[in-house]
Amino acid sequence: MARSTPESAQRVRVMGDLTNRTGIESSPLADAMREGARAFTPNGGEADFKAFRGSLLREPQPVGTIPRPPSLGGAAKQAMGALTGQKPLVLLDKLGERLAFERTGTRLYETLIAKHEQEGSFDGGPSAAELRQIRDEELEHFHTLVRFVEQLGGDPTAVTPSADLAAVASMGVVQVVADPRVSFGESLDAILIAELVDHDCWKNLRALAEQAGNEQLHQFTQRAEDEEDRHLANVRRWVQARTLHGE
Ligand SMILES: [Fe+2]
Ligand SMILES: [Fe+2]
Repeated sequence: MARSTPESAQRVRVMGDLTNRTGIESSPLADAMREGARAFTPNGGEADFKAFRGSLLREPQPVGTIPRPPSLGGAAKQAMGALTGQKPLVLLDKLGERLAFERTGTRLYETLIAKHEQEGSFDGGPSAAELRQIRDEELEHFHTLVRFVEQLGGDPTAVTPSADLAAVASMGVVQVVADPRVSFGESLDAILIAELVDHDCWKNLRALAEQAGNEQLHQFTQRAEDEEDRHLANVRRWVQARTLHGE
């Protein structure tokens, strides 16, 4: 099914839009603006800015914390140590990060599927079944991570520091995909960013699980990493096909 871009939107893309005046050359005030920028002297200089930034960096606050697992005490602590190695909180932090990312990934693919249903695909683009398979795998990763966090005595609803950072870093991806003005094909460009990060983070989580000596978790992360490898390869192929042959 071909994508049905409204005729007016297609014309704007091909011909260029005269109402887009974001470039300075389209402004009759361009020379005056250049002159103003040269004449403008901000309060304070570079040294003041560096001193201010330095003062903030000397008193850093943590961006987040990991709640103490409710079951972490006595025998439970020993059992958890056996499952997580020497750094149980690092493992819980990173499991929390992946868990939140897979939940967001599921929602991103849900939105992508809705756009695909409306617009159709393009030459060399994904089928609905391929998108649904990735969505289902992201969701299954999320549910399995929830079980592992619970098994380790953690709270799967807690926002860990790494989950917080990853969510802030990927806010732009979510905004792009959720924007109804962004086409299905354009949304894939943003999905590529998410899959690139996801790919590397799963690789690191697998290595962490191996280091922790948790065999069950290691096996799961290996499988998830293989599936994420396929996601990335597919999205790369679709983005390239659209760039070379798409609209
Ligand atoms: Fe994922
Ligand atoms: Fe993925």
